Amino acid sequence: MPRILTGITTSGTPHLGNYVGAIRPAIAASHAPGVESFYFLADYHALIKVTEPSRVQRSTLEIAAAWLACGLDPERVWFYRQSDIPEIPELTWLLTCVAAKGLLNRAHAYKAAVDRNVADGDDPDAGVTAGLFMYPVLMAADILLFNANKVPVGRDQVQHIEMARDIGARFNHLYGEHFVLPEAAIEEHVATLPGLDGRKMSKSYDNTIPLFCDRGELKKLIAGIVTDSRAPGEPKDAEGSNVFELYRAFSSAQETAAMRAAFAAGIGWGDAKQKLFERIDAEIAPLRERYAHYAGTAEGVAEVERLLRTGAVKARTLAAPLLMKLRAAVGLRDLRNGGVEPVVAKAKSASPQFKQYRENDGKFYFKLLDGDGRLLLQSVGFASPKEAGAIVAELKSGNAELASIAHSVVRVDGVDEASLADALRELRAEG
Ligand code: TRP
Repeated sequence: MPRILTGITTSGTPHLGNYVGAIRPAIAASHAPGVESFYFLADYHALIKVTEPSRVQRSTLEIAAAWLACGLDPERVWFYRQSDIPEIPELTWLLTCVAAKGLLNRAHAYKAAVDRNVADGDDPDAGVTAGLFMYPVLMAADILLFNANKVPVGRDQVQHIEMARDIGARFNHLYGEHFVLPEAAIEEHVATLPGLDGRKMSKSYDNTIPLFCDRGELKKLIAGIVTDSRAPGEPKDAEGSNVFELYRAFSSAQETAAMRAAFAAGIGWGDAKQKLFERIDAEIAPLRERYAHYAGTAEGVAEVERLLRTGAVKARTLAAPLLMKLRAAVGLRDLRNGGVEPVVAKAKSASPQFKQYRENDGKFYFKLLDGDGRLLLQSVGFASPKEAGAIVAELKSGNAELASIAHSVVRVDGVDEASLADALRELRAEG
């Protein structure tokens, strides 16, 4: 079954743009048969931009509660908090060790920060944390750990998916086929919602409408949407109007067509905004009640915490076995399995040894070699193997000193007394 995986950085409050662009389509997709969905709260990623602990905590609750309120079914999908999965940072390190630094140098977010510094005449890395630099590796770990096939993302994130592929492929090349290489699923058909000022609704433009503000606030914000100054009765262009685009995002084809006709007929901005407010409120009101439970009551909050923990336990049933395999693949292993054998064998072969043999002249010889096979001592020829063997036995047992058998051996050039004595001592010690 194809796996779809998405992370949501827990650095802000969900707004209508998130709802239309991510939450609503993702939840709809999670109900489709034949796919397995993974949604997680990317709170490690939040630490890269947010150093205010209470904001990370609040955002994590708000986003988890929002997804649950919008109908995410934690029984159907994998729903968890990134920081509850210790395998993610562990995999991040394994991937860090194969990720090319040059690849990370080219990441948009990092490069933009460097370019800004250079333009300002600052040190290129001024204010840039290693966390920002490593962002794509952490994201690769999120994706590769669960062998996700598809990652729905906005255009700004496509490069990160490509990097996850690169890093995963590099790991596979070095250590065997462990990872599925993910693909970005760019959501062309999902409208980007205009914000209060007509630019894309985004926290960085400060033009958002919070998904779960109260009705009064919603009404006030909608009333503040920037429009042109055409009076009631003047025909208005539906296309390109942010009021119309917002209306369309919450309406059926039929309702949209009716609103388009009303624009052409000169509906006043105040009336159009009132209709927009009613339309949005009709969709959001039931969700708002559930949200109030999850995010605004002690039992609700405890329930969210419990769901996330249960989700992490489930997710780790996939993550932990994979990580065991990966650890073994890279050589982080139980020392009792393999490993030791060659070391012992090598130590053995490093001892000096006697060799007995027969030459073409029909006589029997012995020689002493050191651990590297270098000749230390060469015997003369003996008439029988027994004679040769007897001297070897004497030398090994220590009963005969070298001097006493001098007539039986030929000394080898470049081998001094001391190294010969050392070799014999080593042999005797081994028995
Ligand atoms: N970087 C993503 C964003 O800011 C969030 C994220 C973290 C993510 N890890 C992920 C998205 C893995 C998809 C897959 O939007």
